[in-house]
Amino acid sequence: MDIQPLLDRHGRVATDLRVSLTDRCNLRCSYCMPAEGLDWMPHEAALTDDEVIRLITIGVERLGIDEVRFTGGEPLLRRGLPDLVARTKALTPSPGVSITTNGLGLDRIAGALAAAGLDRVNVSLDSVRPDDFAAITRRDRLSDVIAGLAAARAAGLDPVKVNAVLLRGINDTQAPELLRWCLERGYHLRFIEQMPLDPQHGWSRADMVTADEILATLAAEFDLEPTGSPRGSAPAEEFLVDGGPGTVGVIASVTRPFCGDCDRVRLTADGQVRDCLFATTESDLRTPLRGGASDAELADQWVAAMLGKRAGHGIDDPTFLQPDRPMSAIGG
Ligand code: 5AD
Ligand code: SF4
Repeated sequence: MDIQPLLDRHGRVATDLRVSLTDRCNLRCSYCMPAEGLDWMPHEAALTDDEVIRLITIGVERLGIDEVRFTGGEPLLRRGLPDLVARTKALTPSPGVSITTNGLGLDRIAGALAAAGLDRVNVSLDSVRPDDFAAITRRDRLSDVIAGLAAARAAGLDPVKVNAVLLRGINDTQAPELLRWCLERGYHLRFIEQMPLDPQHGWSRADMVTADEILATLAAEFDLEPTGSPRGSAPAEEFLVDGGPGTVGVIASVTRPFCGDCDRVRLTADGQVRDCLFATTESDLRTPLRGGASDAELADQWVAAMLGKRAGHGIDDPTFLQPDRPMSAIGG
C-alpha cells in the first residue's frame, strides 16, 4: 500500500504516534491533577481495544507511523495493555513500541510487556525522597515505583528511562541527587521543563525551573559534556556525565522549543487526533470509526487533520492559550 505521509503545512512529517489509553491515574501529581482527580471520561467514550488497534493499524500501514508510544493518564490501568502491545508489534512494518508510565504496578507486568514485544519504557519519577514523592504525587508510593523500575530492567527493557519534572520550592534542588540515584542503578534520567498543561492553570513562566538552571545545578557536582549527537526530533539534549558512560538529558520544551523538528501526532483515549500537545482543536476519528467509515476514509481524515498543525507551541506569545484538555487526558 502506498504511504500517505502525515505532512503539515510547515514541511514536517509525523511518524511518531502517542496513544493515550485512559485519562485516569492512580497518582495525583500536583502539576497534573487536583487532589480530588478530574471528571473521568465515560467508559463508552473511550475507544475499545479493537478500535485502538484499528486506528494504529491505519497509522502504521497507510500513514507511515513507525513509533507508537502508549500513554495515559496511566496506561498500566488499561487491562489489555500487553495485548495492545503485542497486536501493535505484529503490524507490518513492525513499529517501535514504548510506554510512558508512573511505574505503579510495573513490577507485576513488566515481564508480560517485554514478552509482548515492548521495546522501551519511560518511568516518571520526580523525587527519590519518600516525603517529597508523596508531597508531589499525593500518594505514598515511592517504593512501588522503585520496584517497577527494577522489574523493567530485569525484564530486559533497555534503556530504562526516568522522566523528572522539577518544581520550585519542592524538588528543585534535587537534580544532582536524582542523577546520582539513576546512575547508580543504570537508569537514564531526563529532566523535562514544566509546561503549561495543568488543569489548575498554576503554571507560571517565572516559577518554572529552566533547563539552564538544571544544568547549572548539575554542573556544580558533575562534569557535563554535550554528547554532540544531533537533537533532531529527539527533544532531549544529552550530556555525558563525568566522562561517561552515564548520560543525562534535558528536555527544554519551553526555553528551547523543538517544534520545528516535531514528528509527533497524538490520539486521545476517546479517539481524537491532536496534532500538538498544545493544540486547541482536535479531529474526531471516533464518530466516523463507529459510523462505519472505511480505512481509506479514516486515513484521509487523519491526513487532513495535520494541516492545521501550528509551527510552534507559542507559549511565549501574549495570545497563548492553554489547551482545554489537560495533560492527563493528552498523554506525554
Ligand atoms: N510539564 C512537563 N511534563 C509534564 N508531565 C506531566 N505534566 C507535565 C507538565 N505540565 C510529565 C510527567 C510524565 C509525563 C507523562 O509527562 O511527569 O513524565
Ligand atoms: Fe498521573 Fe502522570 Fe499526571 Fe502524575 S503526571 S498524575 S503520574 S498522569
